[in-house]
Amino acid sequence: MKQVTVALSKGRIFTETLPLLAAAGIQPGEDPESSRKLIIDTNRPDVRIVIVRATDVPTYVRYGAADLGIAGKDVLYEHGSEGLYQPVDLGIARCKMVVAAPEDFDYASAVRRGARLKVATKYVKTAHEHFAAKGVHVDLIKLYGSMELAPLVSLADAIVDLVSTGNTLKANRLRTVEDIMAVSARLIINQAALKVKAALIQPLLEAFERTSAQKAA
Ligand code: ATP
Ligand code: PRP
Repeated sequence: MKQVTVALSKGRIFTETLPLLAAAGIQPGEDPESSRKLIIDTNRPDVRIVIVRATDVPTYVRYGAADLGIAGKDVLYEHGSEGLYQPVDLGIARCKMVVAAPEDFDYASAVRRGARLKVATKYVKTAHEHFAAKGVHVDLIKLYGSMELAPLVSLADAIVDLVSTGNTLKANRLRTVEDIMAVSARLIINQAALKVKAALIQPLLEAFERTSAQKAA
């Protein structure tokens, strides 16, 4: 029997994908927050879920270790999406990629003066392209999380990170100084799997499309 493997990251992507899976008649057998299992069976013998880091989802799908997956536009942009079919913007895990700086830092005039800025981020490629396009000189400092701390301890003048409610910025006396892009999660599919397992993948794709179209309406 053919089986479809879906790559998901735990946390918000898994939680926000549950209604989409339900619309396709799929219920995970376990909750990755409480289980240590990395392969999760579902109520359907022809569908299983693998739990991977958010940034690793495209890699699993590109190499065919998973047939489909759900990844944020931030991850797809930063790590590349070559070889991946991206049919649906699912409209989940919505946020914005921004440049943020301390409330009392005059970012606009630093940019006008042509100052060289230290910018901390885990999105080095995205940040590099953003500042290069604007002709702003930056030294990029790669971090793996908690970017908001960097300006507070003088590691950086500004950060490039995701913002949703704005609570994290506010709690750390930072503010958005520039928008880079709107971010939401996309369905990604391995191109070979789409052909070989069309009978299994097509109905899932249609259910996901229907549910996200309803969400957008
Ligand atoms: P890891 O913890 O593995 O380093 P991560 O922290 O980026 O990865 P999550 O926080 O689960 O993983 O984020 C997964 C995806 O959800 C991100 O790639 C992004 O697209 C989206 N996302 C991140 N932060 C938010 C947020 N505050 N609100 C809405 N969506 C978000
Ligand atoms: C993300 C992002 C910000 C925060 C913004 O972090 O890196 O820190 O969300 O959300 P807000 O505007 O609603 O406060 P996340 O919650 O994923 O934590 P992590 O990346 O450190 O795991």
